[in-house]
Amino acid sequence: MKKISIQTIREKKNKQPITCLTSYSKTIAEIVDKYCDIILVGDSVGMVLYGMKNTKKVTLNTMIAHAKSVRLGAKRSLVVVDMPFKTYNSKRVAYKNAKKIIKMTKCDAVKLEGGSNISGIVRYLVNKGINVMGHVGLLPQYVSSYKIRGKSINQKKNILSDAVALSNSGAFAIVIECVVESLAKKITHMVSVPTIGIGASKHCDGQILVIDDMIGLSDFRPRFVRQYSKVKKVIEDSVRSYSRDVKQKRFPSFHNVYRY
Ligand code: KIV
Repeated sequence: MKKISIQTIREKKNKQPITCLTSYSKTIAEIVDKYCDIILVGDSVGMVLYGMKNTKKVTLNTMIAHAKSVRLGAKRSLVVVDMPFKTYNSKRVAYKNAKKIIKMTKCDAVKLEGGSNISGIVRYLVNKGINVMGHVGLLPQYVSSYKIRGKSINQKKNILSDAVALSNSGAFAIVIECVVESLAKKITHMVSVPTIGIGASKHCDGQILVIDDMIGLSDFRPRFVRQYSKVKKVIEDSVRSYSRDVKQKRFPSFHNVYRY
């Protein structure tokens, strides 16, 4: 089984759509690994698993713990780890933390939110040998509400120049989150690296979703999510049946018992 490299991802631009999903554990990563080019250990873990109202309080240690678990299940996909809020405020801090993530998790790259404001940091990390994925448009570490970006001319101009700055600084791919279709299309044409959309239209070079939303394990269903299954209902049905069987003494049965 050949591991997907940064170069493979770069070469997919304008050729083959790039498939990405988040994962926070080995069990899920093992499944995603068979079908996706990139697995993102997203700081969305804070909201999805820890009930936080945003991603601001997710710590470096939390990301490292989940990334280690994901790495165990991912043999083929490229694994990218989100750097949490305020862990890449300066070149020195960003490098120290990115190096720690890569060294401790053996993952392939880190993702940073921002544009022109962090392009110097991105360039610094890349020059030090760290693979960096960018993230523009709606930046969950800096907002409290999920509102579409790029409606005004000013916003369009800023987000486009953010993406260009990241691409010029050596980011190998850029996530575009929640922007109007025309802007995602323009960015994808303007930058030389693949764009990965979430709520950013089919014009991106690839797509990413939070897996819990996609499989119906979470209740988060904005317009950009397509729910492929209803896993929450599957779990609930199983738990209800188990509880009923225990109460009615139908579990454990003959087959579940050790005899000697
Ligand atoms: O944290 C996350 O899951 C993300 C994706 C939604 C792109 O950044």
